[in-house]
Amino acid sequence: MKPLIIANWKCNPTTLKAAKGLFNSIQKGLRDVKKAKVVICPPFIYLSNLKISKSQNLVLGVQNVFWEQKGAFTGEISPQMLKDLGCQYVIVGHSERRKHLNETDEMINKKIKALVKAKLQPIFCVGESEEERKKGQTIQILKSQIEKGLKEISRKEIKNIVLTYEPIWAISTSTNRKDCPPEEAQMMSLLLRKILAKKYGRGGVNRTPILYGGNVNSKNIRLYIDEAQMDGVLVGGASLGSKEFLKIVKIARG
Ligand code: 13P
Repeated sequence: MKPLIIANWKCNPTTLKAAKGLFNSIQKGLRDVKKAKVVICPPFIYLSNLKISKSQNLVLGVQNVFWEQKGAFTGEISPQMLKDLGCQYVIVGHSERRKHLNETDEMINKKIKALVKAKLQPIFCVGESEEERKKGQTIQILKSQIEKGLKEISRKEIKNIVLTYEPIWAISTSTNRKDCPPEEAQMMSLLLRKILAKKYGRGGVNRTPILYGGNVNSKNIRLYIDEAQMDGVLVGGASLGSKEFLKIVKIARG
């Protein structure tokens, strides 16, 4: 499997000019990269201005979606609209939305179901806080997030979902943050696969990519891909500079 490298730009950059500049230099730098798949997830508003030239290992994603396809839902953006603009992936369950926007597991589940129905690929994020980790609740939290987030998702549908372990305490902007040791990331990815296997049967989940996110950069990418054996990474801060992001992709492809 080619490593999947996903850029989550979060609420950045603040101008269309800067977004186009960043996107174009990443796209240019990826021309000769065949052994990695890259997904750029900009803010919605820039999506239709970012043009992918053909024969690239580059596709577009976004950072959120609403669970209805159309109708009287002021301010929302539907899976159908995203599909129409050529978007292929959607981040759901990110800890920043769970925390700042009170997104619940039930809302996340509705979003995942709507995406699967529209044939878009969810990038489903799970992860525990520093406090939960200290209390020894990590396994319980991950199990519950997966169980609730994937409620009524079938064995066939799970193959189109990307699961991401993103411990909140390792995210670059978290206070008193720490790096997640690669052994711990690997242990968690094995745990996530076990949880999926219990729910769907072993054969059904081997094709579900499991990624790691949390302060990934060009200095530690090798640890997460080679040592921790993750199928890819979700990159926040380090995806906002084309040079650093391209370095990550180039190291990840091996
Ligand atoms: P950082 O890479 O900045 O830690 O962000 C991680 C993240 O939240 C990606 O979704």
